[in-house]
Amino acid sequence: MAKVKIKVKVLRYNPESDPKPYWKSYEPEVEDDSTILDILNTIHWNIDGTLSYRRSCRSAICGSCAMKVNGRNILACETSMHQFKGDKFRIEPLPGFKIIKDLVVDLDEFFAKLERIRPYLILNKSIPDKEFYQSPEDFEQIVEVINCILCGACTSSCPSLWGNENYLGPAALLKAYRFIADSRDDGADERVDIINDRNGIWRCHTIFNCMEACPKDIKITEYLSRLKVKATENSI
Ligand code: SF4
Ligand code: FES
Repeated sequence: MAKVKIKVKVLRYNPESDPKPYWKSYEPEVEDDSTILDILNTIHWNIDGTLSYRRSCRSAICGSCAMKVNGRNILACETSMHQFKGDKFRIEPLPGFKIIKDLVVDLDEFFAKLERIRPYLILNKSIPDKEFYQSPEDFEQIVEVINCILCGACTSSCPSLWGNENYLGPAALLKAYRFIADSRDDGADERVDIINDRNGIWRCHTIFNCMEACPKDIKITEYLSRLKVKATENSI
């Protein structure tokens, strides 16, 4: 495989020693079919071992490698360098989150918000001996949203969250939808009460940034609109 030289700028920041974030330039030689994660690995392994970033599965499953490249939130492991024009790359941490170091952001608040919507089946009925039967039609209601890998790219791209850190954000709201729409769950009303709030579903202004950012192509805004209908129905 041919090698190419590219120009990469990475936003670096160590809160323990740097007064503020700064851009650092690298010119790594990488395989011509590299992903963004391959590029970061090449820099980390061969040029600058102090560069920090998260990754684990390399298969777009774990959600740990979300970051902003040339202005777009992406998953580094599934995004080819050829999805961008030219040979210049500006790599930053996900916006809207506190930086722990370099491309590693603090997701504690992100997961705390997820906890608030109770992201598990709530059951008032007894658990069947074998399995909960779910019809194909019922499964269809959640088949797309269960693909969420909790990468945070949607929440990070949402201007409503940039302006109000108390907003639950699209990922937590989508997870609420995922259980509210699940035919096996008995906690829909309880969850609707949690999201039916000015910092819940009504803070979504249908801007669509979340949908553009989602690496799983989930129609997030459409599902959040369904939540608005459900919240309105429950309020009447
Ligand atoms: S909805 Fe998409 S962008 Fe948001 S956390 Fe899930 S996979 Fe990531
Ligand atoms: S490394 Fe797991 S999603 Fe990218």
